Amino acid sequence: MTNVCAIILAAGKGTRMKSDLPKVMHKIGSLPLIRYVIDAVEEAGIEKIIVVAGHKYEMLQSELESRKNIEVVLQPEQLGTGHAVMTAEPYLPETGDVLVLCGDTPLIRGNTISAMLEKHMQANAEATVMTAELDDPTGYGRIVRDQFGNVASIIEERDADDQHKAIREVNSGTYCFSIPALRKVLTRIGQENSQNEYYLTDAIPEIISHRGKVETTLLADSREIQGINDRKQLAEAAVVMRSRVNADHMIQGVTIIDPALTYIDKTAKIGKDTIIYPNAVIEGCSVVGSGCEIRGCTRITDSIIGDEVRIENSVIQNSTIGNNIVIGPFAYLRPGTDLADNVKIGDFVEIKNSVIHEGAKIPHLSYIGDSEVGSKANIGAGTITCNYDGVNKHKTIIGDRAFIGSNTSLVAPVTIGAGAIIGAGSPITKDVPENALGITRANQKVIMDYAKRKTR
Ligand code: UD1
Ligand code: CA
Repeated sequence: MTNVCAIILAAGKGTRMKSDLPKVMHKIGSLPLIRYVIDAVEEAGIEKIIVVAGHKYEMLQSELESRKNIEVVLQPEQLGTGHAVMTAEPYLPETGDVLVLCGDTPLIRGNTISAMLEKHMQANAEATVMTAELDDPTGYGRIVRDQFGNVASIIEERDADDQHKAIREVNSGTYCFSIPALRKVLTRIGQENSQNEYYLTDAIPEIISHRGKVETTLLADSREIQGINDRKQLAEAAVVMRSRVNADHMIQGVTIIDPALTYIDKTAKIGKDTIIYPNAVIEGCSVVGSGCEIRGCTRITDSIIGDEVRIENSVIQNSTIGNNIVIGPFAYLRPGTDLADNVKIGDFVEIKNSVIHEGAKIPHLSYIGDSEVGSKANIGAGTITCNYDGVNKHKTIIGDRAFIGSNTSLVAPVTIGAGAIIGAGSPITKDVPENALGITRANQKVIMDYAKRKTR
């Protein structure tokens, strides 16, 4: 679709959200609303996108900074949807078509946009308006048709008389225009309405008066244009999105015990025969393999999980997890955790920026930071890598098959050789060679009958 671009209108303040954030930066899952609209546009094959921002412009600018195909333009004052398009107009190419849509309608689908574009092209229309039939059309612009059934104009609720108000076909706020036709009429849009705003909808009668062809396309599922104006509608849209995403996973062979209580971002991928129990959150670009079990309040963010991994009540962030692994309950795997196959991570274990090699076990109550743990090493309960001296971070290296006794402090930088043994309760400050015993425990003193001497 090289000759089609898109304008996403997102300058509105969203007063009813009662928020310091621009409306389109509110989130469904971990993704901002604007992201859903952008994805739908891109799914329809449109590359160049202009986002019209106003309130807290910088936030949108920085959110979209890395997207080279997206231009964020500032509409300093929100003088209406027509004015918003006028602001974007200088960034449009000379020819081709432009899709215009709202940034606060995250449920719009790529397929729906594609179908609309197809109709617009086939009809060789100057403008195509996406419409919907609503049981309760209150608040929307109404589609007014002439005696032949052709669109004549769009009347806003506030400017409508009773006859117009009875019309149930509404303007979705999504349109496609031929760019030259739009350019010709934009300058003719005035502010003669109850809100003194420049209405984009007035472009339609202008195009008609120039004998341009205007088409409409009726939405099959009117929920797709459900706009978000307040937090109640945000939660309602999240329910719809959740059920769509979860349904897709179930169709692809994922078991979701309770879809209403499972929170998976649309960007995440999950393999077949994985079972997801209630309250799991899988965010961002996470990829979960097949045959996994995810239980309890587990949150997985931007992480890669292999096959046959069992996770319970744990938090995993920006980590890579191999195959056939048990994690938790209550593990905290922070960014940079890399677990090889067949590792076991038990309860109350925190790991960050560390590689744990094949078959190693860290079964309980440990902190492993900036470390490398060799294959089949066993880390006893209460082992702490003291990686931070208050100024710098240092590395701990634990060799293959090393056995670290319980309640050991490994004061980094320190290296424990392969097969070495560390006595329980030892603070270790010097390297321990291969197959050696390292122990710093004080000798135990035993005083016979001591307790009897004490008066109680
Ligand atoms: C608009 C349509 C209405 C349609 C409805 C669908 C007009 C005049 N009316 O009404 O026919 O039924 O959408 O939801 O277009 N925006 C800007 N800059 C502005 C004003 C608005 O970027 O100066 C953005 C808003 O952030 C929002 C979108 O445009 O994303 C729609 O604006 P809004 O004020 O919500 O229009 P409605 O009154 O709902
Ligand atoms: Ca609106």
